[in-house]
Amino acid sequence: MAKDSVTVRVPAKVNLQLSVGPRESDGYHNLVSVFQAISIFDDVTVTKSAPGSGITISIIGDHTHGVPADQTNLAVKAAQLIASEYDLVIDIHIEVKKSIPVAGGMAGGSADAAAMIVAIDYLYELAMTREEQLEFAASLGSDVPFMLTGGTAIGQGHGDQLTSALSRGTYHWVLALSSVGLSTPAVYSECDRLRAELDIAEPRISDQLMQALLSGDAKAVGASLSNDLQSAACTLRPALSLVLDVGQEYGALGAIVSGSGPTVAFLVADVEAGLDLAVALTSSGVVGSVARAFGPVQGAKII
Ligand code: C5P
Repeated sequence: MAKDSVTVRVPAKVNLQLSVGPRESDGYHNLVSVFQAISIFDDVTVTKSAPGSGITISIIGDHTHGVPADQTNLAVKAAQLIASEYDLVIDIHIEVKKSIPVAGGMAGGSADAAAMIVAIDYLYELAMTREEQLEFAASLGSDVPFMLTGGTAIGQGHGDQLTSALSRGTYHWVLALSSVGLSTPAVYSECDRLRAELDIAEPRISDQLMQALLSGDAKAVGASLSNDLQSAACTLRPALSLVLDVGQEYGALGAIVSGSGPTVAFLVADVEAGLDLAVALTSSGVVGSVARAFGPVQGAKII
């Protein structure tokens, strides 16, 4: 039977480690990125529409401000890319129900693109292999492949060459969200500027973090969190340093800017510690809003 509609649920991510090498001649940086997918989700519903209507998109939900509802949206680009590679005419409406913060360093746009790959593959019965899906994903953006796989993974190259990481247990997070996002290219440029006089080594995976994940030791994971983009994000948004301090004062096991920010992620011992920290952050007055999540969770999947 022909398929007319599908909904794909896709998670957000935090980076447990983001080690950034020197700027390469293509403008990108070699990375070691340890990703964890966490339980904040966008739901992307794709419905076939009348022939000739093309690709349309609407955005609904809590976090819609700043998300383009036009052809510049990465979800639309994902559909266009697959249509051109498979020589397909695609007439669809995409509805993105957004819960992942926009421009927050949690890969919300990349997540929606990953969801689209799964949705189009299903609706048009393309029977893509996982490798084909990952190839489409990598050509759409550095974080898109991880949003397909989810779990815990190490990204190398531009962050798109994935190997899964051995991780035990469930990790609890409190996220301090900002109402205004940060531009990823701007944060990378600021990072280059801050490091202009320094000799920057090639990125290396943290053995300490890998060991902590392997043994499921949340305290050790908290102590091993690191992000080379953090100083740049804090320079562009000085209030983030204050947010990091407040979280640490209230007993977080670790505190880190997620990706290029401005979301700050706090690792906590359990659900109860998360509730306490969420209350403390809210009443401190230094954060816009607070969310709680756990990870790892799986990547884009049909629901
Ligand atoms: O790949 P993506 O489009 O998500 O990257 C967004 C921006 O982040 C790039 O334009 C670049 O400025 C920066 N970036 C980088 N090095 C990477 C990944 C991203 O400089 N490995």
